[in-house]
Amino acid sequence: MHERPFVGIVLFLWSTLVSAVVFASQAPEAWNAAQWPDTSGEHINAHGGGILFHDGVYHWFGEHKGSGRGGSLARVGVRVYTSTDLEHWTDAGVALAVTDDPLSEIRAGCRIERPKVIFNEKTDRFVMWFHLELAGHGYNAARAGVAVADSVHGPYEYIGSVRPNPGREPIGLSDAMRRRIRERAFSESRVEGDWVQSERVTARNFFVRQFYGGQMARDQTLFVDDDGTAYHIFASESNRTLHIAELDETYTGHTGRYVRVFEGASREAPVLFNRNGVYHLITSGCTGWAPNAAEHATAESIWGPWTVRGNPCEGNGAETTFGSQGTFAFPIRDAQGAPTDRWVFMADRWKPDALGRSAYLWLEIAFEGDRVILRE
Ligand code: DGJ
Repeated sequence: MHERPFVGIVLFLWSTLVSAVVFASQAPEAWNAAQWPDTSGEHINAHGGGILFHDGVYHWFGEHKGSGRGGSLARVGVRVYTSTDLEHWTDAGVALAVTDDPLSEIRAGCRIERPKVIFNEKTDRFVMWFHLELAGHGYNAARAGVAVADSVHGPYEYIGSVRPNPGREPIGLSDAMRRRIRERAFSESRVEGDWVQSERVTARNFFVRQFYGGQMARDQTLFVDDDGTAYHIFASESNRTLHIAELDETYTGHTGRYVRVFEGASREAPVLFNRNGVYHLITSGCTGWAPNAAEHATAESIWGPWTVRGNPCEGNGAETTFGSQGTFAFPIRDAQGAPTDRWVFMADRWKPDALGRSAYLWLEIAFEGDRVILRE
């Protein structure tokens, strides 16, 4: 609080004016265009991506996708672009490159999806997590890959991949589930057996089956809370249940503290952010590359309980998130680099036959109390 309210009011008006100058209220046309050229005229190739604001610059990391049907396989890696105005982006190169080493988990032909980068103040390093699928194994590996770098553009050094939290009990595990794990009551063959009656039961089967080996991890994002604690949010249990898992102090491993949310609801493409102490989670349904309706949930603690608020989209196209699938949300910065209360929802408009040409849809979020509203 300012001792003299007058000084506070003048400062508030000034910062509002400055942020208005830095970022006009009108969203750039590029945010909703069929193609978004970078400063050299090439369509931006950073799909399933996220933003890291560092040293006054926005960095957009995303999947470099190829063209044609095989475009979902990683032949290049994770690309990074930079911008100061969120409209004009300069290609800063390949942050994490796939290799031609046949023994490497990230050899060309693997899948690297939904990469996100966070900065660790304690170690002074940049940490990238991504969904990794091994070359030649379709989507069966369901692993989380991690890489680190000393400078924001990289090159990122690949550390390895995990199925998170082997042998660790999630927060709120019921006694019945604990018993099932102990008794190993759910064997692999029975998981797919005809006694599986509902999605919720199937989700539990996958959770129990993976308990000792580590939980499956596909669509993912990262989130750093105000206290510096980082979280890894991923679609687990064969995409049936989301896990929110705490990362350790280095951000390169899991602490074993995690929660299972929306059990059996089959949500993916998680987007998580904290606005004024309320946690917001926006997800998509699981329909491959085809768009579907988004769903918004809020919580007062990241560990839940999470309250589903429904589809945040309004207007024509609301049932398909306007033909897109979310990937990240971030606050627009003011001239000093401080976060404003203007938030951007980033999404991909996938083109399954030419993934590298997939378009983007960025929308400024409207808030009504704690409700998120997205309008095209
Ligand atoms: C939907 C996911 O959100 C994408 O990242 C990708 O894995 C596709 N499924 C593959 O079908």
